[in-house]
Amino acid sequence: MVCRVLFLVLFVIPAVCPAAEPTKAQVEFFEKKIRPLFAEKCHSCHGSEKQKSGLRLDTKDGFLAGGDSGPAYNTEKPEESLLLDAVRYKRIEMPPDRKLAEDEIDAIAKWLKDGAAWPIVK
Ligand code: HEC
Repeated sequence: MVCRVLFLVLFVIPAVCPAAEPTKAQVEFFEKKIRPLFAEKCHSCHGSEKQKSGLRLDTKDGFLAGGDSGPAYNTEKPEESLLLDAVRYKRIEMPPDRKLAEDEIDAIAKWLKDGAAWPIVK
């Protein structure tokens, strides 16, 4: 009986409810690698003042809503997200003036693949 309950709690529930709260590691990754990167490299055109192509990257809602071309984050196939293609200079080139460093692009790829945790700070 105890084993059955443990099995449910440890394996079945997390598998059925993947959209649980982000883990501490996911939150830290976002706060250290992604939020500052968006602020430094993207907010001048996708922030509170300007929203090029209708996209905001300074709020979770803005990120999830995407821009004029639709969602920037492909939840089914994170690797094919428009945002990732943009920083990889595939479909469009973002930031337009200078490509991000490889490790910054890798961080975005990892973050998207890992569920794009975006904790809201009030
Ligand atoms: C100097 C201004 C500027 C900066 C900085 C910038 N962008 Fe953009 N962005 C644009 C413009 C202009 C467009 C629309 C033009 C186009 O589609 O080529 C756009 C479009 C996009 C789109 C497509 C939105 C849609 O739905 O059509 C994405 C995704 C995007 N940018 C991501 C980023 C990311 C991520 C960064 C930071 C790493 C960034 N951009 C930085 C100007 C900028």
